[in-house]
Amino acid sequence: MNILITGGCGYVGTVLTQQLLDDGHTITVVDTQWFGNHLPQHPRLTNIQGDTRDVDAIPLAGIDTIIHLANIANDPGVELNPTLSWEVNVLATQQLCDRAVRAGVKHFMFASSGSVYGIKDEPQVTEDLTLVPITAYNKTKMVAERVCLSYAGQMHVHCIRPATVCGWSPRMRLDVSVNMLTMQALKNGKMTVFGGDQTRPNIHIRDMVNVYRHFLAKPDLPSGCYNAGFENISIMDIARRVADATPAEIAVTPSNDPRSYRQNSDKLRATGFEPQYSVAHAIAEIAAKYRAGELVDKDEYYTVKWMKHLALQA
Ligand SMILES: NC(=O)c1ccc[n+]([C@@H]2O[C@H](COP(=O)([O-])OP(=O)(O)OC[C@H]3O[C@@H](n4cnc5c(N)ncnc54)[C@H](O)[C@@H]3O)[C@@H](O)[C@H]2O)c1
Repeated sequence: MNILITGGCGYVGTVLTQQLLDDGHTITVVDTQWFGNHLPQHPRLTNIQGDTRDVDAIPLAGIDTIIHLANIANDPGVELNPTLSWEVNVLATQQLCDRAVRAGVKHFMFASSGSVYGIKDEPQVTEDLTLVPITAYNKTKMVAERVCLSYAGQMHVHCIRPATVCGWSPRMRLDVSVNMLTMQALKNGKMTVFGGDQTRPNIHIRDMVNVYRHFLAKPDLPSGCYNAGFENISIMDIARRVADATPAEIAVTPSNDPRSYRQNSDKLRATGFEPQYSVAHAIAEIAAKYRAGELVDKDEYYTVKWMKHLALQA
């Protein structure tokens, strides 16, 4: 299959691209390469350093499926430059959908976010609940989902709402909870947990990649939104798992953010998807990479710090 991956040089995109090459697909990646390029040279990979806002430059002839990951990908990153973020996360997404339909693309997947729900009292946060996005990042995701789904009459559209992703990638992110706590523990022998009672859903990066592979194999699944988050556990539980594996101390400081998020992914499971990995796997593999000297703490692994370094702020 011919697949375009936007954001294919990112944290998820790097692992996804490598896996889809291994699966035998032909891949085109379009990425600004803000966080570097860790993709290998490969005869079936065309790796373009480009911006999705320059939509006419994206080669769509012969593309069967688009996996659209290129976004400003967290709350503080979006706050840093809201105009850039709305342009990239929403406007460029609309233009990509529009051009995809014209080019005859049959299947479009969009990386939304489980954070679109906001804070919910319901113990089971399912796809039918209303969205009350809190941050500008959440808002861009909600609007972009609606834009993507407005094209569902012309191509299959799957908006995936991932939990926080964890685990190792050659383009590492250390600003996501499991990865951040694990790095603190390994580097300092100590983690700082703010509050700790807040519940968060998690997904291992390999399961994240497998979700996209699942939809690639089943493009006819009904267009719509699908949660993808499997371990709803407290930040303190994450820290305890890290402490068991590293070992490290846990220091608790008061938090001004008591928000808990949960996700129920039964809709995805009902399509035949089962996760195979856990937070514990993520901690173990990050620790192994660190101890082998293959993972060091770098500024470019922190989205906002690196966006400031690139002078991407408004
Ligand atoms: N990592 C998570 O925990 C998580 C959770 C939920 C949703 N998501 C979503 O999944 C997607 C991938 O996330 P990630 O963690 O890999 O983030 P990431 O920041 O590592 O990857 C995003 C990639 O997109 C590229 N990019 C940004 N703007 C671009 C543009 N205008 N044109 C071309 N490339 C551009 C960046 O250079 C980067 O390589 C994002 O849409 C994110 O919002 C991620």
